[in-house]
Amino acid sequence: MTIKKRRKLIITIVCLILFILLFVTYIYLIIPLHGRESELSLYEFDKDLQFCEKYGFNIDITGEEYKILYLSDLHYLGLAIYDSKIDKNVKALVKKEAPDLIVLLGDQTSSPFNEKVYRHCVSLFDSFELPWALVFGNHDDDWHADKAYLSLMLRKSKYLLYLDGPNIGGLGNYFINFRYQEKPIHTLYLMDSDDNGVSLISKFDWKFAKHRLEIEVDRELLDWYEWAVAGNNTSSTIATHIPLLEYEIAYDNAEQNDTVLRGLRRERNDSYEVNIGLFDKITALKSTKAVIAGHNHKNDFAVIYQDVQLMHCVTSGFTTDGVDGIHGGTVSIINKDGTTTFDNVYYD
Ligand SMILES: [Fe+2]
Repeated sequence: MTIKKRRKLIITIVCLILFILLFVTYIYLIIPLHGRESELSLYEFDKDLQFCEKYGFNIDITGEEYKILYLSDLHYLGLAIYDSKIDKNVKALVKKEAPDLIVLLGDQTSSPFNEKVYRHCVSLFDSFELPWALVFGNHDDDWHADKAYLSLMLRKSKYLLYLDGPNIGGLGNYFINFRYQEKPIHTLYLMDSDDNGVSLISKFDWKFAKHRLEIEVDRELLDWYEWAVAGNNTSSTIATHIPLLEYEIAYDNAEQNDTVLRGLRRERNDSYEVNIGLFDKITALKSTKAVIAGHNHKNDFAVIYQDVQLMHCVTSGFTTDGVDGIHGGTVSIINKDGTTTFDNVYYD
């Protein structure tokens, strides 16, 4: 074989290997791991469904107060070299704050290795031997494993308070009811801000994606929220990933009147462009006193708008955009009378 022919053969083999590698990567990233829907614990919801405690969790407050640590946008990559910094800071914050419950506000990951990250989350947050809860963000199921698959993985946790929720679109709509001396005093509603099962490609433009949603899905979420509020009959907090549209005007007003409670808006709130009417429902029902969201990594503000505290949780991860020194979480105290306070906490 001449040198020229040998070189050609080597180039062909290298190209072939590269092609196979790229193809395998493509298959891994693009073909998602689907959870079996039949294994989800979704329940049939309609407005006439009789309310029952099994649709949520009960927690009895035994001390003077109950402390929740919210963490948001951890954005684990699934690569130890990057993730160890998040672990180290989360562990230190949990130790310092000594919460009774930890709530993850979505975008635990945006990595192709999302199922690996979820396995890591189960192991890390179970290691605190505390109850923890979560909502999905818009990026958790960007790659590989879908939410149904992640939901099945979450069942391996010993301490996680999580339910798939009603069959109304989205996954992980549920509530935690806090009781003092057996009397319900406050409820935390965990809501999936969802991407409504849009395709992987359109998800990269999630504003476009939202336009594709069937409005009926959102109406059902509002119906579910109203049904749950009537059933629980307490003051409440909503924990979700994407901020409501009203965050923007609420901050504008507070900034003008110099009434921002804490933190700053360092970037425009990336809310969905279609208003699903959740805020109007909140003000009409008068149960929810606070909404806490993640999603905008640079924002950590809280303002009062129409008697409702709208706030961003301090972002907790380091692998995407953020602001140096503005990383940590948000702490909430539930008092014995069901009132709540919130404050931002930052990593040391
Ligand atoms: Fe995020």
